[in-house]
Amino acid sequence: MKKKLAVLTSGGDAPGMNAAIRSVVRVGISRGLDVIGIRRGYKGLLEGDLFQLTPRDVSNIIQRGGTILKTSRSEEFKTTEGQQKAKAILEQHKIDGLILIGGDGTFRGGDRLGKIWHGQIIGVPGTIDNDLYGTDYTIGFDTAINTALEAIDKIRDTADSHERIFVVEVMGRHSGFIAQAVGVSGGAEEILVPEHPFELGDVARRIREGRQRGKTSSIIIVAEGEETGGAVNVAKQLAPLAGYEMRVVILGYLQRGGTPTAADRLLATKLGAYAVDLFTQGATGVMAGEVGGILCATPLSETWSKKKPLDKYLTSIQPQLAS
Ligand code: F6P
Repeated sequence: MKKKLAVLTSGGDAPGMNAAIRSVVRVGISRGLDVIGIRRGYKGLLEGDLFQLTPRDVSNIIQRGGTILKTSRSEEFKTTEGQQKAKAILEQHKIDGLILIGGDGTFRGGDRLGKIWHGQIIGVPGTIDNDLYGTDYTIGFDTAINTALEAIDKIRDTADSHERIFVVEVMGRHSGFIAQAVGVSGGAEEILVPEHPFELGDVARRIREGRQRGKTSSIIIVAEGEETGGAVNVAKQLAPLAGYEMRVVILGYLQRGGTPTAADRLLATKLGAYAVDLFTQGATGVMAGEVGGILCATPLSETWSKKKPLDKYLTSIQPQLAS
């Protein structure tokens, strides 16, 4: 009897998820497994929306953003009853292993399911936020920062022409990985992230000092979320303190779409295949990741309970870069 390996994508979609699905399907089938797709993440699992995947089902998707399996955030799966129902459906379909492509919410769900279901659960880090411990990069992060950077370069043109200050909000929920990467590579004057508490009075002072040094325009990158208050709030409070008019741009969901970069396709392909390897080796409750160029398996619970730090060196040189 062939072993059955199911795969789903869950939470916010990320460019490269399709490349990961393709890798799981083709490597899984080549290793003698039956690969089963689950539509719409945990929501589809609870609805019993499972179907057989073939190598041809994943043709021509490596270059496509989004996820062919669709995704969702399921409230029902967060409940004990929901998890019991999921276990029953997986048993009914005789599933031996489940590959979860998603972020921390997806892995929290997987960790709970792993406590009641006998099958193996392997995570693949798919989120633009890059906020998972156990991998240097998550699938989708590289594409998202390149998309945001393209937008910021355009904003810079108009900021420069009008000699204006722009406050640009990027995604990242509770983490500043996107903000730091985009801020440094976009030449931003200020990068406001949840990891580093800041005083708007200090930001205002630095903006005024920059003007005195001859700067005629500025870009302030703000990571979304309660911790920073978001770009609208920052601009509202900062403008009177700095004494300059400010314009706000929220990049929003455009950061989640688009053709995955080569780096994301490579990472997705590698980690998708490695997740299959982990399954065949008998592992469970772990995420497939890559740290310092080495493939590694990290317990799912550590991926969100341990904090991956922002690049300290980039943080330390940011004031000099903005001088
Ligand atoms: O996790 C990816 C992400 O895009 C975060 O950056 C953002 O906070 C969140 O998803 C938005 O979620 P939703 O799609 O549910 O609005």
